[in-house]
Amino acid sequence: MPDPIKTPLRQRPAWQQLTAHHDQIRARTLRELFDRDPERGRRLTREACGVYLDFSKNRITDETLGLLLELAQQSGLRERIDAMFNGEKINITEDRAVLHVALRAPSSQRILVDDIDVVPGVHEVLTRMAEFADKIRDGSWRGHTGRSIKNIVNIGIGGSDLGPVMAYEALRHYSQRELTFRFVSNVDGTDFAEATRDLDPAETLFIISSKTFTTLETMTNAHTARDWCLRTLKDEAAIARHFVAVSTNADAVSAFGIDVMNMFGFWDWVGGRYSMDSAIGLSTMIAIGPDAFGDLLAGFHDMDEHFRAAPFAENLPVIMGLLTVWYSDFFDAQTQAVLPYDQYLKRFPAYLQQLTMESNGKHVTLTGAQVDYDTSPIYWGEPGTNGQHSFYQLIHQGTRLIPADFIGFLHSLNPLGNHHDLLTANVFAQTEALAFGKTPEQVRAEGTPDWLVPHRVFEGNRPSNTLLVDRLTPHALGVLVALYEHSVFVQGTVWSINSFDQWGVELGKVLAKTVADELESTDEPQLAHDSSTNALIRRYRAAR
Ligand code: F6P
Repeated sequence: MPDPIKTPLRQRPAWQQLTAHHDQIRARTLRELFDRDPERGRRLTREACGVYLDFSKNRITDETLGLLLELAQQSGLRERIDAMFNGEKINITEDRAVLHVALRAPSSQRILVDDIDVVPGVHEVLTRMAEFADKIRDGSWRGHTGRSIKNIVNIGIGGSDLGPVMAYEALRHYSQRELTFRFVSNVDGTDFAEATRDLDPAETLFIISSKTFTTLETMTNAHTARDWCLRTLKDEAAIARHFVAVSTNADAVSAFGIDVMNMFGFWDWVGGRYSMDSAIGLSTMIAIGPDAFGDLLAGFHDMDEHFRAAPFAENLPVIMGLLTVWYSDFFDAQTQAVLPYDQYLKRFPAYLQQLTMESNGKHVTLTGAQVDYDTSPIYWGEPGTNGQHSFYQLIHQGTRLIPADFIGFLHSLNPLGNHHDLLTANVFAQTEALAFGKTPEQVRAEGTPDWLVPHRVFEGNRPSNTLLVDRLTPHALGVLVALYEHSVFVQGTVWSINSFDQWGVELGKVLAKTVADELESTDEPQLAHDSSTNALIRRYRAAR
């Protein structure tokens, strides 16, 4: 087989066949595909790790699926999956392994990086996290004045915030309700001020979460937290009782003044956007407890094993990843909606934005060649049913194709009357309406006057996946997150890009440092930016 990295995507036979195939089937409708095959709604489904995936309402035929699976093979997906799980340094621009799967590996598993088994280290950190979490939860960890901790404030941003926030909101049902959790990420002072305005420093623990321990927002907020704490507690010794750190950078943690005994580490082979199940999940473990956190890890691991072992035709992340490629590169779909019908998952789309777009928002291949196809779509979404009263008009009757993942649950964690039946009815009804629409004849048959008919027609043929899960548990959340992690991996492999670096975030950070110095300068700075930036800086300085 030709080396996929060296065989440009457009030259892979399956891509060329898909291009011709798309021309043939682009006009076919879901109405017709379902009419022709009464079994379609059952045939184009798969189930794994407690997730039932109905992908029948996609604009594909069996031939499409076959060609997409061939594209995966021709893109070297099998080899790249094995390379990741074997700890090879597939993040070639940073010369790092990509081993978030090791974070949830059972202690019996061996995974080598540079000939060292990393699994014992993972479990050593998990054990320390559990000991600490239990002390916070049972009140035996005492603050500087001898009082227990009631408030936990995670300070972090990006992967050091989005995962902890999403997991806390998703698993509130399982959390220790006597504890208050807050999350500070933005360098905007409002974030810290509002998160701490009603908290007592004597009862507050700060978790400074930062893989690098250099991120401007996080370090600024960490120093503010330190000042906030010492204004009340006065004694530097208080830091040891009210601050812990989660990082890979022990030197920077120590320099900040946090005892490395209060540090929970992780490794450079864990990407920030893949770190919620590392020590970055400390706030999650404190909230739900070590046992439930273990269930979360088990969910991740079960999906890992499915992804690694299941034949591609049965493989949920492979199917979902290939469908995203299909719509992005053959239907020119610019976005992908993720619509969780569970209020606890209200931050799940936001979490997925970094996971997907910081991973696959790339413009060059692994060899450094400019891509000549689209890479990551824009992921977005809101929980249902709220989105229906916001943007579904566009999804149903707009001019853009928006593939959508609907995530539903068979059981609510808060059964109230018929609420869950109504919620779930909307999942099924929306995907049906998107797929099959309403014809002019149907609209007319309702007595709609001719002039109004065009406005009330639904074209349909708008694709969706339906993911149905028993109930939202820590295990189910782990499965869902890993499902999307590996779907991202599949997409990046087909696009021959590096899903695991993030050079695109550097320029803004560097420029911001320069501009910050100019905004803060006591002397009038010599500005050498463009006329717009210079004028903006001058306007801001004039208002100080
Ligand atoms: O957004 C850029 C980024 O480096 C992300 O990849 C990362 O999750 C975030 O900033 C925070 O980085 P750190 O955890 O090192 O503070």
